[in-house]
Amino acid sequence: MAFEKEKENAAAAAIEFVEDGMTVGLGTGSTAKFFVEMLAEEIADGLMVKGVPTSEDTRRLAESLGVPLLPIEHVDRIHLTVDGADEVDGDAQLIKGGGAALLREKIIANASDLMVVIADPSKVVDVLGAFPLPVEVTPFGYTITAKKVFDALKAAGVIRPKIDVRTAGGSKPLVTDGGNYILDCQCGVIPDAPKAAALLSNVPGVVEHGLFIGMARTVIVGDEDGASVIE
Ligand code: 5RP
Repeated sequence: MAFEKEKENAAAAAIEFVEDGMTVGLGTGSTAKFFVEMLAEEIADGLMVKGVPTSEDTRRLAESLGVPLLPIEHVDRIHLTVDGADEVDGDAQLIKGGGAALLREKIIANASDLMVVIADPSKVVDVLGAFPLPVEVTPFGYTITAKKVFDALKAAGVIRPKIDVRTAGGSKPLVTDGGNYILDCQCGVIPDAPKAAALLSNVPGVVEHGLFIGMARTVIVGDEDGASVIE
C-alpha cells in the first residue's frame, strides 16, 4: 500500500484527540483502518470509549478488534470523528467517498462535535476535483439522475462497478451500505465547491455527494517521521 507510514503516523497523531468517555465516529478506508487498530490497542490498555462505525467494513473491523460499538440509533452525542479523505484543500474542504461510504461518513461527521481528517500528503491539493467526485444516487431512475448530475457538473462520469474478484472486472453497479449506486464524476477541477454542492443537492435522486464543506476543523497530514496538525 502506498504511503503506509504516512497514513500510520497521521492516525497516531489523531489518537491524541481521544479522551476517556468519548463516543468516537470511526471512519472508513485504509488510513482510518490504522486509527481503528490503534484505538483498539488503547481500549485494551484501559481507555473507555465507544465507537460509531461509518460503514459495514469498519463495523466488522472494529468488532473483530474488540472496539465497543453503539448503534447509530442509540447515539445522542458524537464527541469526535476521525476519518480519511480522497482530497483535502487549504480550507479543509474535502472530497470523500472513494470507499463508497460517503453517506454514513457525512451523517456521522455532521453530527460530531469535531471531525479530524487524517491524510497522507498525496491527498493535499490546491483545488479539489482531480479525484473523481463520488455522488450517491438511488437505483430508481439512476440513468436519468446520472445525466442530470453530469450536466450540472459539466463533467463526464461513470456508474461505479462492483468489482468481481473472480473476473477482476465488473459490469454490475456497486451497491453501497445504504442500497444505492455511486456515480464517479470526472470534474478535473471544482473551483467553487459550495456551488457544486448546491447544484448536486438540487438533483432528485441524489442521496448525497462526496463534497464535505465546513465539516473538518482539524486536518492531520502524516509524513515519514511524524505528522503536521492543521487547525
Ligand atoms: C471512504 C472514504 C475514505 O476516507 C477515502 O476514500 C480515503 O481512503 P484511504 O484512507 O484508503 O485513502 O471517503 O468512503
